[in-house]
Amino acid sequence: MFKNNQIFTAPLAGITDKPFRKILRRFAPDVSMVTEMISCHSLVGMHKNCVRNFDNYDDEGNVGAQIFGADVSLMGEAAKILQDAGAKWIDINMGCPVPKVATRAGAGAFLMKNHALAGRIIESCVKAVQIPVSIKTRLGWDEAHKDWQDLVRIAALSGASFATVHGRTRAQGYTGNAVLPPKPNLPIPIIANGDLRTVADIERVQKMGYDGAMIGRAMLGQPWVIGEFCGTCQKPENVGLVALEHLELMLEYYGERAAVPMFRKHAAWYSAGMPNSAQFRINVNQITDANKLKQAIKDFWSVD
Ligand SMILES: Cc1cc2nc3c(=O)[nH]c(=O)nc-3n(C[C@H](O)[C@H](O)[C@H](O)COP(=O)(O)O)c2cc1C
Repeated sequence: MFKNNQIFTAPLAGITDKPFRKILRRFAPDVSMVTEMISCHSLVGMHKNCVRNFDNYDDEGNVGAQIFGADVSLMGEAAKILQDAGAKWIDINMGCPVPKVATRAGAGAFLMKNHALAGRIIESCVKAVQIPVSIKTRLGWDEAHKDWQDLVRIAALSGASFATVHGRTRAQGYTGNAVLPPKPNLPIPIIANGDLRTVADIERVQKMGYDGAMIGRAMLGQPWVIGEFCGTCQKPENVGLVALEHLELMLEYYGERAAVPMFRKHAAWYSAGMPNSAQFRINVNQITDANKLKQAIKDFWSVD
């Protein structure tokens, strides 16, 4: 099995924020974590409406901060800001397929179409910081252009220390199954990502030669799975206590007005598959008051 620091939690926009990372950390002290993506424009501009621009990572253990953008010099500046905030490495998003990032901003997955620009962005980040720089990408733009290995070689030449590959193309979005080939011979370590949900899945990519495994959606509503994969914890007896702690952290971080509606999706994931979870979701979706939300969680999970 991989060492725990070869197991990565994936960047999930709107999900792997500081509160969720704190919860994950309780269960898996040694895993490597990637933040949700942060725009280089927002970060360098220190936009006030984006609270993660002000995160400090000193107390977060092995956490890589992910940036996205297409502006070579701003990406370097953003990398430096994140290094100064305590990130242990910088991850560059080269796989996000959403139009706001990939088409309109010419960033994320679009960089799979422009390897020269990708290389310049990596070089700019590598020059700006003393910590490692990685990229996270997909197999390619579409079925006819599965050229991720070329991008990885350029990344290596540009100074990247490792790369993560999600076994889908940009055109696939999140449909179908993630399919990775046995790890090819490449100059830097490769972390496997996509549909890894069990210890057996992780062992499979290790046998295929990959250097680590990155887990995303499998941790939604069950952050302890990361600890289970690492052998550092088991499923907690009362999930309600985890949900309550998660909510408290979000209230502290975002304030009540923003945190209560943001927590609804987590409440749905934590309760998925449990008896009466549909009714619980309906109730929670109408609540705007933090104390009422805490009480609804306590009632649902019978927390005293
Ligand atoms: C809601 C959501 C948000 C995501 N946000 C990001 C992101 O900010 N940066 C990134 O590189 N990938 C992002 N991804 C992709 C995931 O990191 C991961 O590559 C993908 O979900 C496949 O892994 P999984 O099957 O383990 O979830 C996101 C995926 C989802 C579903």
